[in-house]
Amino acid sequence: MSKVKALRADLVTFSADPFLKEPAECLQFIPDAIVVIKDGVIADLGPSSELLKRLPDGIVPEHYSDAIISAGFIDTHVHYPQTEMIGAYGEQLLEWLNTYTFVAEQNFASVEHAERIAKVFLRELLRAGTTTAVVYCTVHPQSVDAFFGESSRFNTRMIAGKVLMDRNAPEALLDTAQRGYDESAALIQRWHNQGRQHYCITPRFAPTSTEAQLEVCGALAGEHPDAFIQTHLCENKDEIKWVLELFPERKSYLDVYAHAGLVRDRSVFGHGIHLTEADFCTCHQTGAALAHCPTSNFFLGSGLFRLFDAKNPKRPVRVGLGTDLGAGTSFSQLQSLNEAYKVAQMNQTKLNAIQAYYLATRGSAEALCLEDRIGTVAKGYEADLVILDKKATPLLAVRSEFCKDIVEQLFVLMILGDDRVIKATYVAGEKVYSREGAAGTFTYPE
Ligand code: GUN
Ligand code: ZN
Repeated sequence: MSKVKALRADLVTFSADPFLKEPAECLQFIPDAIVVIKDGVIADLGPSSELLKRLPDGIVPEHYSDAIISAGFIDTHVHYPQTEMIGAYGEQLLEWLNTYTFVAEQNFASVEHAERIAKVFLRELLRAGTTTAVVYCTVHPQSVDAFFGESSRFNTRMIAGKVLMDRNAPEALLDTAQRGYDESAALIQRWHNQGRQHYCITPRFAPTSTEAQLEVCGALAGEHPDAFIQTHLCENKDEIKWVLELFPERKSYLDVYAHAGLVRDRSVFGHGIHLTEADFCTCHQTGAALAHCPTSNFFLGSGLFRLFDAKNPKRPVRVGLGTDLGAGTSFSQLQSLNEAYKVAQMNQTKLNAIQAYYLATRGSAEALCLEDRIGTVAKGYEADLVILDKKATPLLAVRSEFCKDIVEQLFVLMILGDDRVIKATYVAGEKVYSREGAAGTFTYPE
């Protein structure tokens, strides 16, 4: 028997890219909407005045007052093993990696530890309203099993992979080119396209992989064209200088990856702060995506991502939004948008709320070539949904009263909001998180 349910609240979603088209034309806003979900997929939606007339017999919508239904947020760059070291003091990228990150990641040799942190991490994502993420595990294959195992229990659509590193990291975190290939290939067999799980080939970044290792990553990418690829790119000036010393024969940092066959659609490059016009053109031509990680870029003092330059309509680059936790400081993509707004201000540009929420939903889905399944609330889409509470805090309750329209309301929620705004999170139509209860309530779908 098919499973049918309905949700009722205001609804916000996007039909096109507001960096390329007039933003108001890209926003779809339905006050007091009903969304009908059948077997995890959106079967119908529209104003309640119309939908109430054609609801299937016996279906009573779950009514959320003072709330907005949105597509679940998508996080295009995040490290689950760094959950335990978020908020590590004082360093910029390369020292931060050596002092804190590479220490924490060694704990993931233990299956029990990996399973424990994967559980915490998935719950924090859902609490923040994030239903899909592109996730770095550690060099240990068991860290990937722990992550996908927990994601499978929630039925979340997740993209993740084992980190490859064969130099410039502690011995305990190193593999080799061959071992990295073999372990990644086995994990692809085990997890790629199993239910809603997708594999991501994950060389950490150019300084921690030899050319031979980057080449095996390219070989894997060639053998699995629908697998994802993730790595870091042009995050920090010392990092860039180091890459150019390590790969003197390459034209640029991005060229190191291009030479290895790692620049294509479904490639997601974290940060991309210090890119040249030629790099943006390469990304545009190849379909590669950049993950804008504003809370991390501020926290590590890395710099200001030039979002409007990347999205230049003459050669737009796919851009998603990332938390980059544990360098990022919040699981909440509302907080990422808050900081993204400030980065834009520092660049003398204005990120409006339509562009912002598009980035966190449909824009990130487009960056991942998943825009036909997730990131939009429309018929036929997977029902990964989030309920945003306009009155989540006493301050928001007052401030929301004075919002003149939905665009102002959305802006206020992203500036003042965080996980407190998330009243419920639905994954493939199942309510897996509810804010009720002291620590919230999490439920695996049946
Ligand atoms: N570059 C290489 N590894 C990392 C990481 O774990 N976090 C960030 N922010 N940058 C990186
Ligand atoms: Zn990162």
